[in-house]
Amino acid sequence: MTSINPGRQAPWRRLALTCIAALLPLGAALADDGKIKIGFMLPYTGTYAGLGNAITNGFKLYVDEQGGKLAGRAVEYAVVDDESDPAKATENANKLAKRDKVDVMIGTVHSGVAMAMAKVARDTNTLMIDPNAGADEVTGAMCAPNVFRTSFSNWQTGYAMGLYVAKKHKTVVTLTWKYAAGQQMVEGFKEAFEKGGGKVLKDMTLPFPNAEFQPYLTEIAALKPEATYVFFAGAGAAKFVKDYAAAGLKASIPLYAPGFLTDGTLDAMGGAGEGLLTALHYADNLTGAKDKAFRTKYAVTYKMQPDVYAVQGYDAAQLLGAGLAAVKGDLSRRAEMVKAMEGARIDSPRGSFSLSQAHNPLQDFYLRRAEGRDNKLVETIVKGLADPARGCKM
Ligand code: BEZ
Repeated sequence: MTSINPGRQAPWRRLALTCIAALLPLGAALADDGKIKIGFMLPYTGTYAGLGNAITNGFKLYVDEQGGKLAGRAVEYAVVDDESDPAKATENANKLAKRDKVDVMIGTVHSGVAMAMAKVARDTNTLMIDPNAGADEVTGAMCAPNVFRTSFSNWQTGYAMGLYVAKKHKTVVTLTWKYAAGQQMVEGFKEAFEKGGGKVLKDMTLPFPNAEFQPYLTEIAALKPEATYVFFAGAGAAKFVKDYAAAGLKASIPLYAPGFLTDGTLDAMGGAGEGLLTALHYADNLTGAKDKAFRTKYAVTYKMQPDVYAVQGYDAAQLLGAGLAAVKGDLSRRAEMVKAMEGARIDSPRGSFSLSQAHNPLQDFYLRRAEGRDNKLVETIVKGLADPARGCKM
């Protein structure tokens, strides 16, 4: 293989390369046309496709508000559909980091995919902002200076719901897809629910993204818990809620979940979700000026209402913008940029938040009630909830 490292060439070759470089147009000589290259690694097909699209919309909305530039530099996008498939995740992340040589990777939705992506980010020292996947490891044992999150940890969402359910019920059955997100949201839930005196009668799982729920509904009916706690999201969540209601369980065994169950899915449930109580760091009727402006612009731009995924995408762009502004768009000043991102206070539609030492949002969690097309704020369950960041050595 021919090396083109001028420092290792014979003097005559070094001179020739220098002359060629001098003849190249400025942009080509720098191998940089001045644009910030952003790689989206998100699901655009499968049960989480709607989530990937909402994150993309939210991110682009913020960039468009800045005139299509961040810190004065135009933005260009590279896009990979990760299909929420962990088996393809390393290859997909390498496409962005090594083939496209993006400046920053934005992704993803699925916790299993996010862990593989975070490993590639570490190995290639590529900046990564996670706009949804909650894998505890990403801001826990795998935490790294170049990996940030604008969403939540799985533990946070489960823990918040457990705090509330413990005040209302003594027994539950849990059901989720069997992968990191569901399992960690169940663990977080149990930590708070059992501390509050509750008892879990049975934990049940089914493979992701299986949506054949009937045998599990039959078992819940037989076990007769006071309540059911689940994690589902996207298209699978809509199907689950419809099946739960059709099985006649909704009236007799109250259903609780992190708010992914009903965010962006209420329309598809055709009324079956009405009245469901969920916990999340966003609701559809917050009163802050930032949220009002965000919702109006989002609705005008995309002809639909935003959800939590759109908010997290918007905030990923805000966080990147804050880092870039601090270094005037000069990505080679990585340490200064990271410091600025670590210290940023993000004026989010959810309410302003800062990041923990492990780069995970410290944020309020709300109890919401599904009413029509909205998840309406009922009360704040917990303020400024911090993820324990177990295993993070930063
Ligand atoms: C996850 O896999 O981390 C996840 C997916 C959808 C919604 C929330 C979390």
